[in-house]
Amino acid sequence: MKIALLGYGKMGKIIEKIAHDRKHEIVLKIDYTNLDQLTTENLQKADVAIEFSTPATVLGNIESCFKAGVPVVVGTTGWHHEMSQIKEQCEFSKNSLIYATNFSVGVNVFFHVNRILAKLMNNYPYYDVQVEEIHHTQKMDSPSGTAITIAEGILDNLDAKKDWVNVLSGDAATDDNIQADQLLIESHRIDSVPGTHTVIYDSEIDTIEFKHTAHNRNGFALGAVLAAEWIKDKKGFYSVEDMFDFNK
Ligand SMILES: NC(=O)c1ccc[n+]([C@@H]2O[C@H](COP(=O)([O-])OP(=O)(O)OC[C@H]3O[C@@H](n4cnc5c(N)ncnc54)[C@H](O)[C@@H]3O)[C@@H](O)[C@H]2O)c1
Repeated sequence: MKIALLGYGKMGKIIEKIAHDRKHEIVLKIDYTNLDQLTTENLQKADVAIEFSTPATVLGNIESCFKAGVPVVVGTTGWHHEMSQIKEQCEFSKNSLIYATNFSVGVNVFFHVNRILAKLMNNYPYYDVQVEEIHHTQKMDSPSGTAITIAEGILDNLDAKKDWVNVLSGDAATDDNIQADQLLIESHRIDSVPGTHTVIYDSEIDTIEFKHTAHNRNGFALGAVLAAEWIKDKKGFYSVEDMFDFNK
């Protein structure tokens, strides 16, 4: 399979290596130094594009892929408020897109179990819940896209919480800015850690912690290449849950 890499930073470079290991060919690499090469003609040399750039550039890159008719795997986070508009555009123009806030298999298992756990915890209302995420200091968005997906999984299944609020470490989370029906996402930015997410159910009696720790970025990159293989011959707008399909 021929792949275009839109974004050639930390993730783009690992995706390149994993794609080579899986016998794919990289036919285009775009970063901020060679944007002039991002043309319809160059994109059409690829079977699939993999987009890991920045929250400010992702929408333009998705549009370039739609214009070229090239299926796109989107890993960049921080654009999900535009989701319904992009979905409509994708379906209207008969293009293909698969996105994930996190492409790692382990995190997607975590998302699935998080939803089941939240539903179960409706029976035990004396536990309060919060989400904690730790990432490297260069991470541009806060909370992480992964933390938002975890929070949405809880909100969809736990009756006691209605929406989420984010507090960056250093800012105080007080009863004044967090209501009882709001889910706190606490974000920490520390040196160069790849990413930790913890769901904490706390009561006077005990604490239940459900935690995922990424040891490196390889899991995200492998998931993105698997998504490229999966989307290549499909049409439509998909999330990574469609690919993993844990309900089978
Ligand atoms: N979904 C996932 O599994 C997952 C995993 C890790 C990171 N991410 C997200 O992926 C994104 C990239 O992460 P990273 O760690 O590789 O960041 P990075 O800062 O290392 O790399 C970003 C790259 O984008 C390039 N770029 C800038 N403007 C561009 C443009 N217009 N077109 C194409 N490329 C452009 C930069 O030159 C750079 O190479 C972030 O949003 C991050 O949160 C997602």
